[in-house]
Amino acid sequence: MREKVYNKFVELFSGEATMFAAPGRINLIGEHTDYNGGFVFPGAIDKEMVAAIRLNGTDKVRVYALDMNQESIFGLEEEDKPAETWAHYIFGVCREMIKRGGKIGGFDATFAGNVPLGAGMSSSAALESLFATALNDLFNLGIDKFELARIGQATEHNYCGVKCGIMDQFASIFGKEGCLMRLDCRSMEFEYFPFSPKGYKLLLLDSKVKHALVGSPYNDRRESCERVAAKLGREFLRGASMQSLEDIKGEISEEDYKRAYYVIGEEARVLSVCDALQKGDYEQVGRDMYATHWGLSKDYEVSCEELDFLVNVAQEAGVTGSRLMGGGFGGCTINLVKEELYDHFIGTALSRFKDQFGHEPQVYDVVISPGARRL
Ligand code: GLA
Repeated sequence: MREKVYNKFVELFSGEATMFAAPGRINLIGEHTDYNGGFVFPGAIDKEMVAAIRLNGTDKVRVYALDMNQESIFGLEEEDKPAETWAHYIFGVCREMIKRGGKIGGFDATFAGNVPLGAGMSSSAALESLFATALNDLFNLGIDKFELARIGQATEHNYCGVKCGIMDQFASIFGKEGCLMRLDCRSMEFEYFPFSPKGYKLLLLDSKVKHALVGSPYNDRRESCERVAAKLGREFLRGASMQSLEDIKGEISEEDYKRAYYVIGEEARVLSVCDALQKGDYEQVGRDMYATHWGLSKDYEVSCEELDFLVNVAQEAGVTGSRLMGGGFGGCTINLVKEELYDHFIGTALSRFKDQFGHEPQVYDVVISPGARRL
């Protein structure tokens, strides 16, 4: 893929370019906690977006997306937002850099990726982190890594319509080979956790139900949480007790109650998983993953029939832990599977899913990999 991206650059723009890469992510536990000021537990993966890029000395950006076979040309002023949806991510990154005082100009670029789109592995954050990292480097802006992640997040908010948290961009920028990261989304302190559970493997099963967080109920979930936090007189749901939620139950809608109930419970599960990881107790990690799934399904209501089916199949097959991953509404499940069960589980999941829904889920192996960088 890297070679294809480079060759396309030479074909379109001739001369030389610098290559950058930025990965997608997985998340072990801590879903929909980031915008609630809570903890998340992501890691960058070996599925990435790659760009070849060179400054062109003009005020125009010319970008070619190999996966779409499409070019977008746009200026850097607010009114220059391009027509192509995929280009909004790049345009947004440019605009957010300029808003922060970054002196940037035009550039030429080609890019491609193998982060599956809409599968819950954060292809859009990978794209934002890719261009944020590249422009920071090529224009010598000296922006620190947290701010680069915030630039990606602000791009989602202001140019793509998703009021996301910081997890995906953080993971794509800060990823480290072999390590998951526990990030406290309130203080922004984080810790690397080496993750290579002996005797277990991580497996992603993509339901191929396409989720699009843009204009989706994702933002509604966030608003529910904010309403409950405000009712409790708090900035975030993070740190609120179940008791305090029970105390205001009569004053909030049934729906908002369920959303907050899930988030407060998830808080405890992330801490339980950290503790279990330190003890090497993967069975506990797995139990928490299942609890997260059913909370996401029944209380947060971001699952779907296909994802629930995959988690049930995992549970019946004796898989250690399984849950939907990412924003939800489709995409994949993340499974913590004992090595001896691995092949058997894949076989069972593929055939049972196909019998039920008429197509097989896509199987993805993931390797925990480094974050965004110049190649
Ligand atoms: C999406 C968002 C993240 C996070 C997850 C759910 O991936 O981009 O900020 O909220 O959903 O955990």
